Amino acid sequence: MKDKSRNRVLWTPPEETVRTARVKDYEKLRKRANADPPAFWEERAGELAWYRKWEKVLDDSEAPFFKWFTGARTNVVLNALDRHQKTVVRNRLAFIWEGENGDLRTLSYFALNREVCRFANVLKSMGVVKGDRVTIYMPRVLELPIAMLACAKIGAIHSVVFGGFSVEALHGRIEDSDSKVLITADGGYIRGKVVPLKEIADQALERAACIEHVIVIRRTCEDVNMEAGRDYYYDELLALPIAKGSCPTVEMDAEDPLFLLYTSGTTGTPKAILHTHGGYQVGVSTTLEFAFDLRPEDRWFCTADPGWITGHSYVVYGPLILGATSVIYEGAPTYPYPDRWWRICEEYGVTVLYTTPTAVRGLMRFGEAWPNRHDLSGLRILGTVGEPINPEAWQWYHRVIGRGECPVIDTWWQTETGSFMITPVPSFPLKPGSATRPFPGISAEVLDEKGNRVAPGEEGNLVITTPWPSMTRGIYKDPDRYVEQYWSTYKGKYLTGDSARVDEDGYFWIIGRKDDVIKVSGYRLGTAEIESALVSHPSVSEAAAITLPHEIKGNAIHVFVILRSGVQGSPELEAELIEHVGKEIGKIARPEGVEFVDGLPKTRSGKIMRRVLKARAQGLPEGDTSTLED
Ligand code: WTA
Repeated sequence: MKDKSRNRVLWTPPEETVRTARVKDYEKLRKRANADPPAFWEERAGELAWYRKWEKVLDDSEAPFFKWFTGARTNVVLNALDRHQKTVVRNRLAFIWEGENGDLRTLSYFALNREVCRFANVLKSMGVVKGDRVTIYMPRVLELPIAMLACAKIGAIHSVVFGGFSVEALHGRIEDSDSKVLITADGGYIRGKVVPLKEIADQALERAACIEHVIVIRRTCEDVNMEAGRDYYYDELLALPIAKGSCPTVEMDAEDPLFLLYTSGTTGTPKAILHTHGGYQVGVSTTLEFAFDLRPEDRWFCTADPGWITGHSYVVYGPLILGATSVIYEGAPTYPYPDRWWRICEEYGVTVLYTTPTAVRGLMRFGEAWPNRHDLSGLRILGTVGEPINPEAWQWYHRVIGRGECPVIDTWWQTETGSFMITPVPSFPLKPGSATRPFPGISAEVLDEKGNRVAPGEEGNLVITTPWPSMTRGIYKDPDRYVEQYWSTYKGKYLTGDSARVDEDGYFWIIGRKDDVIKVSGYRLGTAEIESALVSHPSVSEAAAITLPHEIKGNAIHVFVILRSGVQGSPELEAELIEHVGKEIGKIARPEGVEFVDGLPKTRSGKIMRRVLKARAQGLPEGDTSTLED
């Protein structure tokens, strides 16, 4: 970890980049912003449209439940769509969408607004009103952002469940959010195969009584079960007179909820992270504009699924607020060949590409010939998110995809933070593997257990020390857990759950999660979810999940399982358990390996010591085992 060569600046921006960049002097801007963060954010908020301006920029009277732009009236749709209808942006493309099967669809800002109005009219006709929750479980098609925007427009709270999740995950999220309407599709395509979304939804709905109506988008056009009086095809609803015409955007309080997004925490089932209309729009638009230097002539390709926070902030809301053109691709990057993304970059003239280190490592494996087949000269900026990027992958991305010219913007942030927290900008010197410096207006520190700052190069807990506009407003229906999980370790400081170090130049290096949250291929999961999926299998009595380093995925899940008495471990049972986890949570949660054991290392208070399991599995010293039960 203390290898000095890793700390070297390896990319200095060319003069031209600095000259033309949106942010020319990052340090200077940070200094100014951090001298008075609310003043900085107020200035940024002034760039957006509001029905009524705020009385107060930051209300910290109920900290850690901070409020931003109190008294202001707005709606994120006012900025993402409405205000563009009166400018040249109206005729610009909002989305260029390519299906895995080659289908192509584009929507201008005008057309997107029209579609959103229609969808909003349909939702209204189903009785959805301000404050109602709507669950969205969809493949990566344009109706997904359209549905999100339609909810926001009428003040409903969307809760998007990633289309790769399965029955249990969907069921839990529908029930917890107490959603009235579910928006889904007959199916989706991935790697040429159909994912039976409606079938999964039907199973989830067997036990979720709150859903009154299901709207089904036709993607595969395969026959699916439609329950009379509950399920409606979207295209049929659209044909009704009720869907026609415009739909007024509902005026919201800046602090009114915009969406819930379920994410894994330290314990138990995933919890809903809440974001609001006012501060969120300021955070996502400012960070995207500064960190990626986005301009009207750019074509932005963020490969994330809208079902995760990256998609919410940087496929849907951020780019639309800036009036940018986004490329959305439905399927897998290796389908039918591993040059699909490179072909898309060439074909649609992508200028800024934002993806995960896992994807970079995965595509790197296929060699340079695939990208070299395509003209990628349009790219000017690259970015990554979700996990630390190893210097080898950074170099390949920069050299092969970015011609050795494009900066790699390594953005560190979380579902809870809403927008980038630690990131470079294109005019800032880079060190491969470091997310560089906190964004202007953001203050981060690395602390030891006692709350003191650690020395340069030492590892510690990453915290954020001042509030920011796009911060979560808490865990839906569970304020105590929010305080406990994030604000109780260090008084007045937000605990990220990540460990990090800061080098002599003030560059931040993220090491990884310190809690029971795991990142696999950049996806966020919890060991508790995987363990509870395993024990729901009739053969399993106890289970523990850990991650081990994996060349492509960054981390891979390994589980230790104690079987019920009388059950024998076998390769067939191993395969069955892997499948079972996939069916309960989703394919992304499937363990790489299953080990049948007779016991698990536990503390005297009965907590599984995953640290010990991990050390054992890697043949490393077990560390302090003084609390280990005999
Ligand atoms: C990790 C994703 C290193 C980190 C936006 C964080 C990263 C968690 C980076 C949040 C990065 C995200 N470098 N690690 N650039 N970006 N992470 O909520 O562990 O899905 O706490 O949000 O991803 O995951 P989440």
